[in-house]
Formats: sequence, structure tokens, C-alpha cells
Amino acid sequence: MKNTVITIQQAKERGEKITMLTAYDYSMARLIDEAGINMILVGDSLGMVMLGYEDTLSVTMEDMIHHTKAVARGVTDTMIVADMPFMSYQTSVYDAVLNAGRLMKEGRANAVKLEGGKEFAEHIRAITAASVPVVAHLGLTPQSLNAFGGFKVQGKTEEAARKLLEDAKAVEAAGAVAVVLECVPAKLAKLVTDQLHIPTIGIGAGADCDGQVLVYQDMLAMFGDFKPKFVKRFAEIGSMMKEGFQKYIEEVKSGAFPAEEHTFKIEDEVIEKLY
Ligand code: KIV
Repeated sequence: MKNTVITIQQAKERGEKITMLTAYDYSMARLIDEAGINMILVGDSLGMVMLGYEDTLSVTMEDMIHHTKAVARGVTDTMIVADMPFMSYQTSVYDAVLNAGRLMKEGRANAVKLEGGKEFAEHIRAITAASVPVVAHLGLTPQSLNAFGGFKVQGKTEEAARKLLEDAKAVEAAGAVAVVLECVPAKLAKLVTDQLHIPTIGIGAGADCDGQVLVYQDMLAMFGDFKPKFVKRFAEIGSMMKEGFQKYIEEVKSGAFPAEEHTFKIEDEVIEKLY
């Protein structure tokens, strides 16, 4: 069954947890879709995990459209949410609607995600009015890395917690269909989840959110040296891949690969005529 804004809302109402993972290309999107994950986030984290930048700030609309298109070709049932990259919506409501529309029209996303709370309520309202569903992203919002002075847990003081709750209510009132809560204390995420009608999707925000999202490279341990506190490694794919690559090197060098069964044949009489 196709996952949509309606089915994720119904999941919250039934108390059924929502699953979301990032994907950035066709092959991973196919695997995630076949596994039965509800939502794919084509995150601007692609700048870091796919393109090797040190943060998400250099990701462009063209990068996002290119990767979202590839994901869309691999998906049957999973709902696709594409990130609006840095400066694709902050500049004006007009830019926000135009670029959200491009992610849907050219990228074939089912919804867009943008970072920010009540200061972007007008943008969310306008994008929603253009029939593009919006997921808001609160808490640690990586595009504000320089304003925060680093990647830190958000909402720990009374003032910050109150602002986060108000932001969540403001984006819901503006029409957001879900809210991602990143690196927020678990009790605050629970309070937000209880007070909103729309689903919350947590990353580093505890078990009481309506759903969870992780970057697939993190949950599959693809980078051995990177393990944030909120990530659980569900499979050790990074080391399995490296073992596979090393075995390939050994067998190519020793001549064990390719073997007879990997080789195409030609009639001897044909080849003999060439000598
Ligand atoms: O870009 C991304 O992958 C994200 C998740 C970390 C929520 O925004």
C-alpha cells in the first residue's frame, strides 16, 4: 500500500510507529521500499554522506533534484520527502514555493522538508497552499550550524524548550504534515508529540516520537569512525563491504577470479582462424 500524508497521519492516530530512513539513489531506495519502510528522506545530509562535504551548506537544488529523481525511480510504496537545501527557501516565500515545486515536479518527491519554526510559518503556509506537503524540522537544524556554534542537543533550557514547543505548534498551524525532531531531550519530544495532532519523527529524540528516522549509512555502520550517541547499528555493513573488496583484490591478484563459470565461450574453430 502506498504511504501518503493520509496514511502517516492515520498511523499516529492508531498509535502505530512510523519508520523513515534516508536514501539518495535508486538501488538503496529499492531496498528500503522492498523492506517496507514508510517514508524515505532524501536528506541534504547527502552533502556529507554521498558528496563528502563537511556540512550540508553547499548542497544545491540541482543536487537535491538529481538524487530525488533517482530515489523516485526505485520506489513503489514508500513516501518520498526531499530536503529543501540551504538558501532555497530562507530568501523569500516566493523562492520557497518555487523550489518546493521543483522538488515535486522535477524530483517527483511527495513532500518537502525545511528547517525552522514559526519564522517560516508563512513559507510553510504558501508551499502547502501550492499543494506541496511540508515536513518541518526542529531542534538541531544542521543548516544553522554556524548560528548554533556546532552540533548540539537543543531545547535544554526552559526558554529553549518553550520556544521549541511553540515552533512545533506554529508549523502545525501553518499546515505542516509532520515534524522531524532532531537531538531534542526525550521528555520534551514526548510533550511535543502529545500536544501535536500531526506525527513527530525523531532522530535523537527518544522513543515517544510517533516515528523514527536515521541516516542509512549510520544505522548500517558504513563509516566505522562515526557513531553519534543516538545511532544504533542494526548491521555491520561497512566492515562486510570492506571484506568483500579485500577478497576481490586477493582473487583478482591470485587469478582465482574470474573462474570458468564467469567466462563466456567461443567455438575453438572460430578462434583458431584468427591465429
Ligand atoms: O538531512 C538529513 O538526513 C536529515 C535527517 C538527519 C533528519 O535532515
